[in-house]
Amino acid sequence: MGEHRYDPVTGQYTTGHKWDGIEELYTPLPRWWVITLVITFAIAIIYALLYPGWPTTRFYFPGLLGWTSAGELKTEKDAARAAQAHWRDQIAAKPVSEIAQSEELRTFAITGGRSLFNQNCAACHGLGAGGQQGQFPSLIDDDWLWGGKLDDIYLTIAHGIRNEDAESRQSEMPPFGEMLSAEEISAVADYVLTLSDAKAVEGRKALPGAAIYEANCAGCHGAEGEGMREMGVPRLKDQIWLYGDSKESIVHQIGKPRMGSMPSWKPRLGDDAVKMLTIYVHSLGGGE
Ligand code: HEC
Ligand code: HEC
Repeated sequence: MGEHRYDPVTGQYTTGHKWDGIEELYTPLPRWWVITLVITFAIAIIYALLYPGWPTTRFYFPGLLGWTSAGELKTEKDAARAAQAHWRDQIAAKPVSEIAQSEELRTFAITGGRSLFNQNCAACHGLGAGGQQGQFPSLIDDDWLWGGKLDDIYLTIAHGIRNEDAESRQSEMPPFGEMLSAEEISAVADYVLTLSDAKAVEGRKALPGAAIYEANCAGCHGAEGEGMREMGVPRLKDQIWLYGDSKESIVHQIGKPRMGSMPSWKPRLGDDAVKMLTIYVHSLGGGE
C-alpha cells in the first residue's frame, strides 16, 4: 500500500494502490450516475410491486394494481364498441337500400365492409376485389353474374353460390363433354368467340357452331350471348371472361364446366356484416 498523493501528470489523486510501480488513480463514479442508478433500482422495485410478474411454479404475483394486458384490451374494445353502437344499431335495424341512402351510414358501412372484405374475401377475390382470372370473378366491373343491385349482391353474399345453404344461389351448366363430340365442341367454341367480336357479326350465322349453339346453349346464354342473371349465366357477348377468352379455356368449360362455388357468409359473419359488405361491394364501381 502506498499513500494518497497528487499526480501532477493527470491532475488527479491516487488511491494508494500500487503494483510494480503502477499507481491507481482515484476516479470515483460521478455522483449523478450513482444517483441515477439508485433511482432506477427504486423504480424497478415499485414497478414489480404494482404490475404482474414474479412467476412461481403454479402462480404469479398479480401486482397491487390488478392490471392485465387482456383487461386493457377489453376496456379499449368496449369503448370502441360503445362508440360504434349508434351506427351498428341502425345498420341492424335498416334494410341495405336505406343504409345506402344515408350518407353517414353509408360511409360507416363502407369502412367496416372494406376491412371485413380484406379479412374474408380477398383470399379469393383479391385485395382490390379485382378477382383472379380463371377462378374468381372481379367485383369492380359492371359485369355481374348474379346481379349488381344492392338486393342481388346481398343475397349472393348472405347465402353464397352453389353450396349447402338452403337459399344458396344454384345453377348448373351441363357437361357437354358427355353429349357433344370433340369436333362439335370445337365448332361451338369458335362460334362463342365470335359473340364478343363486333367484326365477326356478319358471317357468324353461317359457322358450323351456330346451330349447335342455338340448340344447346342459347336457352341459358341467350341467342346473342346476353347471359341470364337468375341463374348466374355469364354474358358471352362482352370482353369480360370469368374463365378466360382463349379457345382452350372455352373448350374446357364446355366439356367440363367448372361450377364455381362460394360459401354463405351470413351464418359465419352475421347479418350486419353482410349488409356492410354489400354496401362496400356495391360501391366498388360496378354497383347498379
Ligand atoms: C373460396 C373463395 C371465395 C371467397 C372466400 C369469397 N368468394 Fe365471392 N365468389 C367466389 C366465386 C367462385 C364466385 C363466382 C361463382 C359463380 O361462378 O357464380 C363468387 C362470386 C361472388 C359474387 C357475385 C359476383 C357476380 O358477378 O354476381 C359476389 C358479390 C361475391 N362473390 C362477394 C364475396 C364477398 C363479399 C366475399 C367475402 C365475404 C366473398 N365473395 C368471398 C368465391 C369466393
Ligand atoms: C343450363 C344453363 C347452361 C347451358 C345450357 C349452357 N351454359 Fe354455359 N354457363 C352456364 C353457367 C351457369 C355458367 C357459369 C358456371 C360456372 O361457374 O362454371 C356458364 C359458363 C360458360 C362459359 C364461361 C364464360 C366465361 O365468362 O368464362 C362459357 C364459355 C360457356 N358457359 C359456354 C357454353 C356453351 C358453348 C354452351 C352450349 C354448348 C353452354 N355454355 C350451355 C350455364 C349454361
